[in-house]
Amino acid sequence: MGQPQQPEGAGAEEAAAGTDSGTDTGTGAGAGAATGASATRPPLRVGMVGYAFMGAAHSQGWRTAGRVFDLPLNPVLAAICGRDADAVRLAADRHGWASTETDWRTLVERDDIDLVDICTPGDSHSEIALAALAAGKHVLCEKPLANTVEEAQAMTRAAEEAAARGQLAMVGFNYRRVPATALARRMVAEGRVGRLRHLRVTYLQDWLVDPKAPLTWRLRKELAGSGALGDLGAHIVDLAQYLSGERIAGVSALTETFVRERPLPAGAPRGLSAGSADGVTGQVTVDDAAVFTGRLTSGALVSFEATRYATGRKNALRIELNGERGSLAFDLERLNELSYHDGTEPGEHAGFRRILVTEPEHPYLEAWWPPGHGLGYEHTFVHQARDLVHAVAEGRGPEPSFADGLQVQRVLAAVEESAEKNSVYTPITP
Ligand SMILES: NC(=O)c1ccc[n+]([C@@H]2O[C@H](COP(=O)([O-])OP(=O)(O)OC[C@H]3O[C@@H](n4cnc5c(N)ncnc54)[C@H](O)[C@@H]3O)[C@@H](O)[C@H]2O)c1
Repeated sequence: MGQPQQPEGAGAEEAAAGTDSGTDTGTGAGAGAATGASATRPPLRVGMVGYAFMGAAHSQGWRTAGRVFDLPLNPVLAAICGRDADAVRLAADRHGWASTETDWRTLVERDDIDLVDICTPGDSHSEIALAALAAGKHVLCEKPLANTVEEAQAMTRAAEEAAARGQLAMVGFNYRRVPATALARRMVAEGRVGRLRHLRVTYLQDWLVDPKAPLTWRLRKELAGSGALGDLGAHIVDLAQYLSGERIAGVSALTETFVRERPLPAGAPRGLSAGSADGVTGQVTVDDAAVFTGRLTSGALVSFEATRYATGRKNALRIELNGERGSLAFDLERLNELSYHDGTEPGEHAGFRRILVTEPEHPYLEAWWPPGHGLGYEHTFVHQARDLVHAVAEGRGPEPSFADGLQVQRVLAAVEESAEKNSVYTPITP
């Protein structure tokens, strides 16, 4: 947890591809300069399970990483898996996968797959990851790692055993791979904010404000594990631990389910939305919102808020760190920026300043566009693919590891336990 201050993998050879000056359109050498060499590199053959929201995002990552970054292996979109044969074939065409499967068990056993990428709801993460590791594959698993601590423990044990055989396992906390959050981590590690006192972390969405929004898998405990907590809270718990380089040692929590019954969806849900069938309703069995405080191992205090009911907030992940020497602030809705206050400057000139995180010296930016030509959400998945390819090629354990995912799972479980006990402070045993 919290080790990498730089994006994983080599970087020098990627440098400056996109900094051809004299163009204001960004069409110089720019992104894509690595394409020519990719065909001569050994392949990393990916098999992906699930093809909706994260399936599309990960496809984009695998397709693009080797075209922008100079990778040691060439990611090949070998096979995509879903349960509906026609739908998965359409997804394969749309996202560029060479073949399809309708049973993930067949996919993980295929000899022509090196890495299994799990983009399904949490109820299937553990089973697929264990089978893929047993079949000798590397694994990338979406967050949260699992639906329970027990599942996450079994996955972590299997990943550690597989590591001895040279297999890697990583969990998809992609917000570590926003250049601005990676820069924030680097600055914390460099001591630019000093000893941490406070972290303030919120992740706010509003797609459940309408009480008639349908009861998709995200609102059913047996499929999702938890609600806003596991979906949004998992990201901010991981970010808090990653940025601070510390563990959360204990929490006090409140959770709430504001709308307890919702229309059942008509047909297969897609992404965050789905149509609803008239008149038929079902029970919401997860939290709609979670608010909790926590203590880092150093004694710094953290406040967290994760909700799907913050009217007007679409994907507002915000984090502020206050240390003895300075502060950092990040807002995912302005993801090319990082705010920094250097508390050692004379008061006369001190204040928060905006760092535009688009310089080639910034994490991941060496291979992208000229300064000021910003990146977006999808690039986090390109960076995730890039880092994992480097880790595989170099035989290094990637971060975040399954052990990191397990630690997040322990925090989520402690939040639920605390909320059940009227917010009693609940320590988290590593
Ligand atoms: N990293 C992020 O920012 C982020 C964002 C959203 C979701 N997620 C995570 O990604 C995972 C998937 O979420 P999503 O938003 O893509 O969901 P989704 O509903 O959009 O897609 C889920 C996919 O899994 C498939 N699927 C479900 N069960 C399956 C099974 N047993 N076998 C084969 N395919 C199966 C569905 O058909 C669908 O294609 C979840 O763990 C979620 O928490 C991460």
